[in-house]
Amino acid sequence: MATLNVNGKVVEVSADESTPLLWVIREHVGLTGTKYGCGVAQCGACTVHIDGQAVRSCAVPLSAVTPEQKIVTIEGLSPDGSHPVQKAWLALDVPQCGFCQPGMIMAAAALLSQKPRPSDEDINAEMTNICRCGTYNRVRAAIKLAAEGGEARRG
Ligand code: FES
Ligand code: FES
Repeated sequence: MATLNVNGKVVEVSADESTPLLWVIREHVGLTGTKYGCGVAQCGACTVHIDGQAVRSCAVPLSAVTPEQKIVTIEGLSPDGSHPVQKAWLALDVPQCGFCQPGMIMAAAALLSQKPRPSDEDINAEMTNICRCGTYNRVRAAIKLAAEGGEARRG
């Protein structure tokens, strides 16, 4: 039995301590917005926040997470989809198939919380998520839109 704080709620999970956090979140907590892509920390589909840092949850065993750490998944990023990154994503129609997008959004939100005005180099360094649909240009534009606080002005 392990205790986790997920999206502000304390949850008890019964899983082997070697279980990747991704599968704990999806199968034990029941939050399926966090996606499985590669399982080896390469694609970013499984990105969540742990204490505000973007983390690839497929590479984090349950044993590495303490009850005090705050895990936030795509479901908990905002109560109603109103996070600036989510609004910018909507304004620019960033997703294509959508599979990689929860991870993209979580990575972008962590980037902006640490660098509110990221340069292209910052985006290149931090946004290493893989998108098979090739949404990279819109991802970059949406991060810049969110950084400007301009998501509401577009359209
Ligand atoms: S599923 Fe975790 S990085 Fe690809
Ligand atoms: S939108 Fe399809 S994989 Fe990124």
